[in-house]
Amino acid sequence: MSQYQAVKGTRDIFPEEAAQWKHVEEVVHTLASLYGFSEVRTPVFEYTELFQRGIGATTDIVGKEMFTFLPDPGGRSLTLRPEMTAGVMRAALQRNLLSQAPVHKLYYISELFRKERPQAGRQRQFSQFGAELLGVSSPAAVAEVLTFMMQVFETLGLSGLRLRINTLGDLEDRARYREALRSYFQPYEGELDESSKERLEKNPLRILDSKNPALRDMIAGAPRLFDFVKAEGVREFEAVLRFLADRGIDYDVDHLLVRGLDYYCHTAFEVQSTALGAQDAIGGGGRYDGLAKELGGGKEMPAVGFAVGMERLLIAMEKQGLFATLNPHGPLVYVVVQQSELADHGMQVAFKLRRSGISTEIDLAARSMKAQMREANRIRSGYALFVGQSELESGQYALKNLVTSEQTTLELQAIIEILREPSIREGLKA
Ligand code: HAM
Repeated sequence: MSQYQAVKGTRDIFPEEAAQWKHVEEVVHTLASLYGFSEVRTPVFEYTELFQRGIGATTDIVGKEMFTFLPDPGGRSLTLRPEMTAGVMRAALQRNLLSQAPVHKLYYISELFRKERPQAGRQRQFSQFGAELLGVSSPAAVAEVLTFMMQVFETLGLSGLRLRINTLGDLEDRARYREALRSYFQPYEGELDESSKERLEKNPLRILDSKNPALRDMIAGAPRLFDFVKAEGVREFEAVLRFLADRGIDYDVDHLLVRGLDYYCHTAFEVQSTALGAQDAIGGGGRYDGLAKELGGGKEMPAVGFAVGMERLLIAMEKQGLFATLNPHGPLVYVVVQQSELADHGMQVAFKLRRSGISTEIDLAARSMKAQMREANRIRSGYALFVGQSELESGQYALKNLVTSEQTTLELQAIIEILREPSIREGLKA
């Protein structure tokens, strides 16, 4: 074993698991295109101020979870992105995207970094797939991103999900609410835990998020943000709920849901999975109309989006046995060279097959025929194609189906045509 280990909170993904990732990624790419979202990729690091302004200086992410560094003495502080929304918005403003078209629908599958205490489902490097709809955040737009997200879950076969949804009102509603909450919690200050005490000053809404059972009753008695939301905000929220109901998407309205990033306004949501342990939030999102302005974009740009944790999604899918049918196939053909003098010819055959679009494997270590056959079976090849002196002379090759053991002898071109048939995989070993 090497003296080096992967850094705590990071992990390696080996081929079997990579196949699971690929499966999920393909579903995301396919559904994104069905819903008209185009892929965006932004840099892994950004200027630190972007996140301080965008996510909010009093949030846990900015306060204690960012990997921040100075690129060179006197340089501007940089931070590994802890989430995608701020970077995507920065990119959209920089490119002046909205001057080209009034609405942009972007999605991503990206790596993120947060200095959290690692545990199951919580890493320091993790991935999200997500979508950001820029330029409109009407109830229909909110429903659009939510429907996309829920259809990904549905297509993947995931069950046991709970969508919680709330409205946070606008900035003004929240400012009034913040004051009301402060007044409510102030008399209990002595009973609050350390982190809630800190939040009381900086961001009392986050006390509602506390998982401390000792605070449960106190929190249950707190004023509700919903009661501070203006009538128009309530109407819009109800319109979102109607859209969801019309699409058969189940939800629970949860007036305690506040989310851990400051840019949200109006609708915010989170999805939990019963297949996960303590870290049961599989995804979350909401509207963030004020972020563009916060980042110096001049005016507000309505926007709404979500992000889903890929690792948590994969853990939940694994627990529900959703990868059982993902049978990784080996190569379609293993070229078995009968004598080492024929190795060059074997290579040529292998390359010809690959050029014809047929996945092909060949021994690179001049091993015995028996060892080659063992390897062909081990890696689950569908067929073995034999290269021997007689094949070389006659131009006719023996092709053996490794599942049924049937064998035929044909010219290479005829073999290629057979193997290129799309249905050829059926009946092969998984
Ligand atoms: P978030 O709730 O911070 O939202 O993260 C979304 C999801 O990322 C979480 O529900 C979780 O599944 C996953 N996640 C977060 N931290 C970790 C971690 N340390 N390890 C593993 N998975 C993690 C956002 O990031 C927003 N940008 C979402 C959004 C997009 N809102 C609007 N647009």
